Amino acid sequence: MIAHGHVPVLLEEALAFLDAGRAGTYIDATLGLGGHSVEILRRNPGASVVGFDRDETSLREARKGLAEYADRVRLYHADFRDLPEDEIDFASVRGVLLDLGISSFQLDSPERGFSFNANGPLDMRMDRRTKTTAARVLEKYSEPKLAEMLRRYGELPHTRRLAREIVTRRKLRPFETTEELRRLVEEIYRWRPQKGKIHPAAKVFQALRIEINNELEGLAEFLERMAVLARPGTRFVVIAFHSLEDRIIKRTFAALSASGESAPRMKALTRKPVTASEAEVRANSRARSAKLRAAERV
Ligand SMILES: C[S@@+](CC[C@H](N)C(=O)[O-])C[C@H]1O[C@@H](n2cnc3c(N)ncnc32)[C@H](O)[C@@H]1O
Repeated sequence: MIAHGHVPVLLEEALAFLDAGRAGTYIDATLGLGGHSVEILRRNPGASVVGFDRDETSLREARKGLAEYADRVRLYHADFRDLPEDEIDFASVRGVLLDLGISSFQLDSPERGFSFNANGPLDMRMDRRTKTTAARVLEKYSEPKLAEMLRRYGELPHTRRLAREIVTRRKLRPFETTEELRRLVEEIYRWRPQKGKIHPAAKVFQALRIEINNELEGLAEFLERMAVLARPGTRFVVIAFHSLEDRIIKRTFAALSASGESAPRMKALTRKPVTASEAEVRANSRARSAKLRAAERV
């Protein structure tokens, strides 16, 4: 079932690398609306899913979409990095899926503040229990801290200038809406829409989102922990949407596949990341930047 016009990215590729026809449990660490999970469950009556999402609204929607398979589904409103290992029988786990970042459902909800294309409050929290919002970061961070965050997570030029302007303007009036921030970014980067050019606000919003949701920290450690807990034959599939994330996945899979002091724990199944076909990108522009990497526990 595809809810809210939501289309799972790289669906066939993800299911093939998970080898999701095998009976057993699949951990969907980033459930979203459950687009990948519902297909695993629909196609394989011997499959069950343990799903995580730290966004309560998404989880509620996913639960509705997965209702038909409720007896084969267990869902957690939690960060996958806090996965309760004692509650999972790793002997039955066949696959672990991470489809990182935010969903189109989140992006298309203006009240969440993820999108610079729609006006809304500067929130950007995936989990509303988190204290820090984008507005708070823009209000509280020092100029150097803002510049460093924008450079590191947005991979943008001129971040010192942008940070300086943020600090100057917030003294007059705090930033409250996505539109206010977008306008400032357009001014600083002298934005003129051009075919094939990415709006600089996309990068600024990305940087804020990564910072607020602490998206990169603990990703490598999560995969390392899973590699210890998983049994041989368990497949890992990770879909990343920006280079910072993809770099972490690439390095972690490479390190786990290398023979060092101990035998390798994984075998990489993708040398280069798998990307979406032209047809998929045409049908779903979000797929454009998706990079899938897979590995198997050995
Ligand atoms: C790209 S979407 C997943 C879409 C899903 N595969 C589908 O087809 O419906 C990513 C989801 O993961 C959640 N998420 C991101 N980081 C998370 C984390 N560390 N722990 C739990 N959920 C997370 C987001 O809230 C979002 O709903």
